[in-house]
Amino acid sequence: MGDSEESFLNTPMLDSFHAGDYSSWWKSYGEYGIVAAVVIGILIPLSCSTIFMGKKRGKQRGVPVEVGGEAGYAVRNARATELIEVPWKEATTMAALFEQSCKRYSQSQFLGTRKLINREFVTGSDGRKFEKLHLGDYEWLTYAEVFDRACNFASGLVQLGHNVDSRAAIFSETRAEWFIALQGCFRQNITVVTVYASLGEDALIHSLNETSVSTLICDAKQLKKLAAISSKVNSIENVIYFEDDESSVDTSFSGSMGSWKVASFSEVEGLGMKSPVQPSLPSKNGIAVVMYTSGSTGLPKGVMITHGNIVATCAGVMTVIPSLGAQDVYLAYLPLAHVFELAAESVMLAAGCKVGYGSALTLTDTSNKIKKGTKGDTSALKPTVMTAVPAILDRVRDGVLRKVEGGGGLVKNLFNFGYKRRLAAVEGSWFGAWGLEKMLWDVIVFNKIRSVLGGHIRFILGGGAPLSGDTQRFINICMGAPIGQAYGLTETFAGATFSEADDTTVGRVGPPLPCCYVKLVSWEEGGYKTSDKPLPRGEIVIGGHSVTAGYFKNEQKTNEVYKVDERGIRWFYSGDIGTFHPDGCLEIIDRKKDIVKLQHGEYISLGKVEAALLSSNYVDNLMLYADPFHNNCVALVVPVRQALEKWAREAGIRYNDFADLCEKSEAVNEVQQSFSKVGKDAKLDKFEIPAKIKLLPEPWTPESGLVTAALKIKREQLKTKFKNDLQKLYG
Ligand SMILES: *[C@@H]1O[C@H](CO)[C@@H](O)[C@H](O)[C@H]1NC(C)=O
Ligand SMILES: *[C@@H]1O[C@H](CO)[C@@H](O)[C@H](O)[C@H]1NC(C)=O
Repeated sequence: MGDSEESFLNTPMLDSFHAGDYSSWWKSYGEYGIVAAVVIGILIPLSCSTIFMGKKRGKQRGVPVEVGGEAGYAVRNARATELIEVPWKEATTMAALFEQSCKRYSQSQFLGTRKLINREFVTGSDGRKFEKLHLGDYEWLTYAEVFDRACNFASGLVQLGHNVDSRAAIFSETRAEWFIALQGCFRQNITVVTVYASLGEDALIHSLNETSVSTLICDAKQLKKLAAISSKVNSIENVIYFEDDESSVDTSFSGSMGSWKVASFSEVEGLGMKSPVQPSLPSKNGIAVVMYTSGSTGLPKGVMITHGNIVATCAGVMTVIPSLGAQDVYLAYLPLAHVFELAAESVMLAAGCKVGYGSALTLTDTSNKIKKGTKGDTSALKPTVMTAVPAILDRVRDGVLRKVEGGGGLVKNLFNFGYKRRLAAVEGSWFGAWGLEKMLWDVIVFNKIRSVLGGHIRFILGGGAPLSGDTQRFINICMGAPIGQAYGLTETFAGATFSEADDTTVGRVGPPLPCCYVKLVSWEEGGYKTSDKPLPRGEIVIGGHSVTAGYFKNEQKTNEVYKVDERGIRWFYSGDIGTFHPDGCLEIIDRKKDIVKLQHGEYISLGKVEAALLSSNYVDNLMLYADPFHNNCVALVVPVRQALEKWAREAGIRYNDFADLCEKSEAVNEVQQSFSKVGKDAKLDKFEIPAKIKLLPEPWTPESGLVTAALKIKREQLKTKFKNDLQKLYG
């Protein structure tokens, strides 16, 4: 999602996906599988599929629309002539939506949490200690119970002395109490400030101070960190902490919190239960959340999200997920301080689903923090719907492929054959997609893979960053579920476009949600115009009910990127470049700030060129750098160690260690030649191929701060860190 690309995923979890052991089951299915595969191959030749092709082709998902504001190419969702604003008539605010949903589904299970059975530490081979958890089954609160707890918390806040004209902040990992606290605040018309844990201390202080937060709601384990900054945030009066499963909470340092009043979440609920306070409900245009998101440089910006924005995105997304309802189970594990998760959980609330909480580190049976032999969150919950960001899906894919590779020839052939058959079926959307053959392949190959995510997933909400078409298709087939690719930003409360479940194409993000219009506006300078052939291209501008109120205390920045047109529609200028396909689906093709004008006047799109060069076998990661005072570009390259060493062995290059190899001119030449080759294939211009490159032996990891958790490069940080190298490359 555009600008908000913080590292909201812990990397340790990402590794959990390749820890499973598939080799044994594959062997057991092996012989039976091979026979079946041969039979299928003979009975149903692929050419059959052509007969059934084209069923879903040509469906119109978005249509051009006349709108006001700046001239451009605007599209609306094909199913709604008018923008929709609410999921149902009375749900005009998040507080109203919550109350009505809780009444409607009162006896259904709503929020589920796993109880901690046991916590232990094991010592790894390197002497480091790892925490391992044994977690129990999910324990559920009904919608009615959640409503009562939110009401109690709201009353408790007032009883505790929270000034309802001031703001509250939530600084915590994703959990049921997070959601309850949020709804409690809304019932007293209190604006909630959210801050990412990963933004760092300065960002935290800045956010809390800028919004004059007076009540801070946090994890018990954050207390210590907060005590350390207490002298820098003068507005805070109350601190409310969520209890951990352990009975003892360390409050020994509460003395250092100065004048802060510290209370536990259940104490506050207790206060409220004893002395209920009348709710003071918000209005549609009231600010529900100020969500801090990191800019690419400088301090984070607070996006002001109204109640109207949240219900509009809910209304839009509910039309996209097929028959979402009380039978669905949603796995919640991404950070709620990120717009994608908050939007998703709000949708589940509106649809009456069950929401089971998990965490990145306990997601699967083989996740880092799960005690061996006990269940991960997906096995315990068996979710039907989940969110995923590309980093996760990429790792799932890599993990599966590595296992297939490791399983030997038979396993590999079987998997590849099954995959090819399914691919042909999905892409041709032919008969086989639903038929006997699918069932067979599921039994032979895919069911076991699916059990990694619990075995019941029927829809994946994808977002956070662009997902490669390859991975999207791979997950489609292996998990047997469509991925609704969402495009949106914090500034549009996640809602902009969303690909539909029956859309079998990849690499696109679907038509506009019915709550907003999406318009392309020509960017002449950058060479993207709505008059471009065959498809219109331009900056993506989003207008409608999901477009937020602007940046907190930053009118200048707000006026730069938000505009209200003569018809009263609010537009947000995303800085992303897109193109519309004839069926009304959007594809993101570039970002404005990744485009540099070279000395002789040509534009170079860093992202586009990087994507092309990444297909060189030698490249693990790279950053292209173009100085506007030169006519060419240069690149920092992290090579794939195995590939480069293999080449060096074969070419008879002598070297001491990998760092030494990276310095060798032969190695540099070899990688550069591979760039020329892939550059040609991708039809890059000569000036787009780096004139000089530097090989860097150390991989870029999220811990080093050089890439996001989604492994996207952070240009500013890389430029700073390798300033000297870049200068030398241009020297
Ligand atoms: C907090 O905000 C005030 C203005 O509202 C500013 O003067 C002060 O420097 C800020 N403090 C910190 C630690 O950022
Ligand atoms: C809610 O609070 C805002 C200020 O935060 C205020 O402007 C608004 O009038 C309040 N709404 C209601 C319905 O009291």
